[in-house]
Amino acid sequence: MHTPIVERQSTHALDLDWVRAQFPSLKQIVNGQPATFLDGPAGTQVPQRVIDAVRDYYEHSNANTCGAFATSRQSDAIIGSARAAIADLFNCASDEVFFGPNMTTLTFALARAIGRELHPGDEIVVTTLDHDANVAPWRVLEECGVVIRQVDIRQQDCTLDMDDMRRKIRPLTRLVAVGYASNAVGTINPVEQIVRLAHAVGALAFVDAVHYAPHGPIDVRALDCDFLACSPYKFFGPHMGVMYGKREHLLRLRPYKLRPAPDAPPDRWETGTQTHECIAGVAAAIDYLAELGRHSSAGRSFSPEVNAGDAPDAPAGEATLRRRQAILNAYQAIRRHEMTLAARLIAGLLEIPGLRFFGISDPVQFAHRVPTVAIRLANHNPLEIATFLGDRGIFTWDGNYYALNLTERLGVEKDGGILRIGVVHYNMAEEVDRLLSALDELAGRKN
Ligand SMILES: Cc1ncc(COP(=O)(O)O)c(C=O)c1O
Repeated sequence: MHTPIVERQSTHALDLDWVRAQFPSLKQIVNGQPATFLDGPAGTQVPQRVIDAVRDYYEHSNANTCGAFATSRQSDAIIGSARAAIADLFNCASDEVFFGPNMTTLTFALARAIGRELHPGDEIVVTTLDHDANVAPWRVLEECGVVIRQVDIRQQDCTLDMDDMRRKIRPLTRLVAVGYASNAVGTINPVEQIVRLAHAVGALAFVDAVHYAPHGPIDVRALDCDFLACSPYKFFGPHMGVMYGKREHLLRLRPYKLRPAPDAPPDRWETGTQTHECIAGVAAAIDYLAELGRHSSAGRSFSPEVNAGDAPDAPAGEATLRRRQAILNAYQAIRRHEMTLAARLIAGLLEIPGLRFFGISDPVQFAHRVPTVAIRLANHNPLEIATFLGDRGIFTWDGNYYALNLTERLGVEKDGGILRIGVVHYNMAEEVDRLLSALDELAGRKN
């Protein structure tokens, strides 16, 4: 049923052999089967250069920051270049970027700081589609009398109900918290439009780009969002979090911090000692993306971007422009490859009897999704399916993946949630076919 295709026919923009050679963990064998990593939404694999950067930090630069000696100065420099790398990824200035242990911790810290400016009766808008890390930190502010208003979804395709969004954003709104893409069902939200709606009533716009970052280019200037958060471990880097904030907000807001710690942004937003080795790995992950862009054939035809720069009021450095451009090229190649696989995956899934599909399945609407898909199978709970697949070396995820509002809204939370299959750019058509065959077998319809 799932006719294998020659990989390069559909993905000529991405050199998949080169990509896979960068990731040593992809060579693993599990129960005699090649490991098939379809668990990217929970964390991606890392290229060799990230592993090397972390090891190199320990071997040559391991120290705390701001000391008057060589390894400490090297640590300062490594953090500075990692911020510059994130600035190229986000299209912002490097002093608008700060690190933390993960997106959740950073968002709680930001919410507490924003909460200091709010009053009882002020409103915050969250959504049913979001990961709880973009819900619970804002709900904490209910303790101070803030009112949380939750935007619903359109159940038929798990897209945001934009009429409800327009109703919920009103003059009392102080902040709108929205995800760029759903980590459960793959919907890409109209973030630019939502930021405009927020700003029209004088509210701040916070974007959770954790799930979008491995799949599509981020441009905080084009979005005009006030804050945007990501987790490098979801885009081929180490386990940690990173956040962008407009400079004016990072200066004005008062984060909870220790008295002797630096008071200038972005340092004042980084609580305690950071994982410097991971920060070294973040820069390497972004350099991997840039290298992928340079390597991909799509890259050579991509038009130059004019507004990338290291600081809004400074001319963009040549190196910055080159890296930003290379990153954009990489995403073009990534997107084309991923969506070819997604089309194959979704078409195959829809043929399986008893399969319930959540999210956008119409190819005409694929511009509004990333290749993360969610299903249920009649007579098999998601844990049972994930275990069956896991035994065959195919790594998927079951449950709610912390998108709790969504699994409750879809009525599946009490019943094991959903099975999530997450494609990223290092996956192959053969892996999609292996998954589809295994699901066919489980559904009792072995070819
Ligand atoms: C969409 C989304 N937002 C936020 C998070 C939380 O990220 P972190 O693990 O860095 O706290 C996740 C993690 O799965 C996620 O998928």
